[in-house]
Order: sequence, then C-alpha cells, then structure tokens
Amino acid sequence: MKYHRFAFIMLLIDFTCGYITYDTGFATQYNWENGFLGNPNTNYIKEFIFSGTFERPPQVSIVIYKYNYDYYQPNGYDIQVTEITTSKFKVQLRCLYQHRVWDTPFNWYAYDDRRIQVISVVNYDIQQSSATFSTQITHPHFNPNFSKGFIHLTSFCYKGPIDFQISIVSINFQDVVIEIKSNNLNLIKLGYQIFLAIPDAFDVDDQIVFNGDLYTSPTFVYPNDKDWTIGLQGLKWGQTINIRVKRIPYSNYYTYGKWDAYGNNVQTLRFTNAYFHRTISKVYLPWIIKTVRISQTEYYSIQPQPVFQLVITELNKVYSTPTTEKLFVSQISELHVIIQYQCDALKKKLQTQIFICNSCSLKKQYNYCLNSANIITFYPLLKSQMTAVGVFTISFSYDAITIISTIQNQIEQTQLILAIQVQSH
Ligand SMILES: *[C@@H]1O[C@H](CO)[C@@H](O)[C@H](O)[C@H]1NC(C)=O
Repeated sequence: MKYHRFAFIMLLIDFTCGYITYDTGFATQYNWENGFLGNPNTNYIKEFIFSGTFERPPQVSIVIYKYNYDYYQPNGYDIQVTEITTSKFKVQLRCLYQHRVWDTPFNWYAYDDRRIQVISVVNYDIQQSSATFSTQITHPHFNPNFSKGFIHLTSFCYKGPIDFQISIVSINFQDVVIEIKSNNLNLIKLGYQIFLAIPDAFDVDDQIVFNGDLYTSPTFVYPNDKDWTIGLQGLKWGQTINIRVKRIPYSNYYTYGKWDAYGNNVQTLRFTNAYFHRTISKVYLPWIIKTVRISQTEYYSIQPQPVFQLVITELNKVYSTPTTEKLFVSQISELHVIIQYQCDALKKKLQTQIFICNSCSLKKQYNYCLNSANIITFYPLLKSQMTAVGVFTISFSYDAITIISTIQNQIEQTQLILAIQVQSH
C-alpha cells in the first residue's frame, strides 16, 4: 500500500509548469461544411490536438452538435474516443449500415480532473421484446461527492420510426443509474455519455421537452466564463424524411431542431442546456485526528480474545478479525474511534502515527505495555475539515490498524490519518 502526504503543492505546480487542466474544441473533421460525408459501411478515425499539454491524459466528453442521418433503414453509426494522450485524442466514427450518415460534428471538452467523470457507452444493444420497453443500467463512478449529472446521446441506430428517451435516475456515492425507454420496436442501438461532476464544476438546466421539429429559445444570454452546450436525450421521429437535428446559436437566442428549409419529421425533442466550467476551484480536504486520549489499565479477569479491537462508534462498526473495508461517511463531521490492545507477552510496544493537520508531518509516538498495565486503549477523535462525503479505507490485522482518508481533487489523494502497529521491542 502506498501513502503520499496530502500536497497542496501539487495543485500549484500545475499552473506554474504550464500544464492545461481543461480544453475544448469543435470537431470540424466530422462536419459536412468542412468536407466530411459519412459513407455507408465505412470507418473513419480523426485526430484532434489539444491547445496545450495536459500533465496526464484527460477525460474527453464529446457532445454531438448535429444529428444528420438518411431516412433509409436500418441506419446509424457508432462513435468513440479511441486514444487519449496528454497532447491529442482520436475519435472513430463507424457508419454501420448501407446508408449515409452525412456528418456528425461535435464539441469536445477535456478535463484532467477527478472532480468530474466521463462515462461512455458505445452502442448499447436494445434487446426489446415488446413495444413498450424500459431498462435501467448501473454504472459505477469514482467520486462520492458527485451530485450533478448530464446524459446525452452520442449515437442511435434504428429500423423505422422511433420514440425513445434516456435519463439519469439517481446518483449515489458509488453509482449512477440511468434509464432507457422506447415506445416501439425500431430502436436497435444507443450510444451515450454520462458526465458527472461536483456542484461547482458544471451546471445543467432542467430538461426541455418540445413537441415539434424546431425549438426556438427565449432570449438567451451565453455565459462568457463557461462553455455552453446542448445534449439530446430523446426523439420522436416519424420516418419518411431524414433525421435532422442541429443546434444553431444566434446572438441572443438559439434554435434546436431542423435547419433552414430542410424537414426532419421530428415530433418531439428532448434536450438539456449544460455549461462546462473552465476551472474547478473547490478543494477537498482529508479528515484529521483532532484529539487522542490514551488509557492504560490493569485488568484482573482478562478475556483471552481479542488481542486487538477497533470500534467506530457512530458507524456501529466493530473490527476484531483481519479485514480491509471501504466506508462512506456523510452528514457526520466527527467519528469517535476506540482501539483496544491487550498486551502480549512478547509484543509490548505500540507505534502510533496520526495526521493532525494539512501542513504537519505525521505525529509519531510509542506506547508500552508496563508490568501492571495489560490493556492500552486509544480514543482518537476523527474530524472532517469540510462538508463532504468522507471515504475511509480501514485495514485491520492482528498487529496493525490503519485508517486512510481518500479525496478526489485534480488527482486522487490518499492520506494516512491513523496507524497503530504492534512491535516486539
Ligand atoms: C458533497 O456531497 C454532499 C452530499 O451530496 C453534500 O452535502 C456536500 O455539500 C458536498 N460537498 C461539496 C464540497 O461538494
């Protein structure tokens, strides 16, 4: 197991060394106006270059700007980010059937940050046996403090008129649950991305459900400190003419749906405005040990077992056999821990290391079993430094106990906050 001290310094280095942490762009290589046409049964791979260098390969979200399919059936494509380095990424588009997909331009958003997460599903196969279909899919995520989610369609394949929608059902500490609903048998595959974020990394508006082929927004003010986009979550489309849905920004409003004189035969559009923040400033801090009280007691009628015991009072947890467990703690800012050691004839020394403040090194001390004191009890009080979900890894064995606090900032950071080790001398 590897610990590294919680380091604010790392966050500072990112700025001073000139690494970028966020970048965005528009995929002209997949745009018809820039000369692209998706031909039947053809695969394309295009490369996109970041405007600077990331310290690590970032996560890349692609939000489709325009859906533009021939009406013939079946039709559709799949799209996926195939390679990400610190300076560029590749996107593969595969036209899967006998018909053209015209173009699939998208905006992309790249973050080197664990306070957001991009989950991509390349063409989920819809196994529908009845006309009304709904399914829920659970995706694990890595940050228990995610509270904002944005789901959008990256592709869909169909064999006739379609009427479907996709949504986020819930986000908990470990998973996001999504739902796909379809009202006829013609949806074959669905590709989607889920973007998850902590509160101050991202904004998402309520979904707009528009019954018509072209939505015109009320007066709209584009933010100048965030990147605005629109994600599609579903369509009702009645075939006969091409699927055409596109976002067009004007100076103080936007439209979403068919463009110019071209029809699209869409009867319902489901979509959401979303805003990517260019910087994420919230810094998550590990828990600290506020106090430790230690008592040494002489017991006369001592029980033979256990030798070591760990209790976490507020969580009703008692550990007395070897184990490693991950715990999530929310809406609690203090944890009272009790660690009891029953002195062994050969192992009479305990080494303790505790984390008492962000800029302090671990405080180390020793406690000894004395002739008359055969029980040593520690009462550490753990305290959160902010309102956030705490993540602890508890490792318990017969001669060592460790408690590690894990936090997600630009990178994942683990901090040893308490270690007690039994030693021979
Ligand atoms: C973390 O998530 C919890 C629970 O959703 C919320 O109460 C808290 O405000 C969040 N904290 C931060 C700093 O995002």
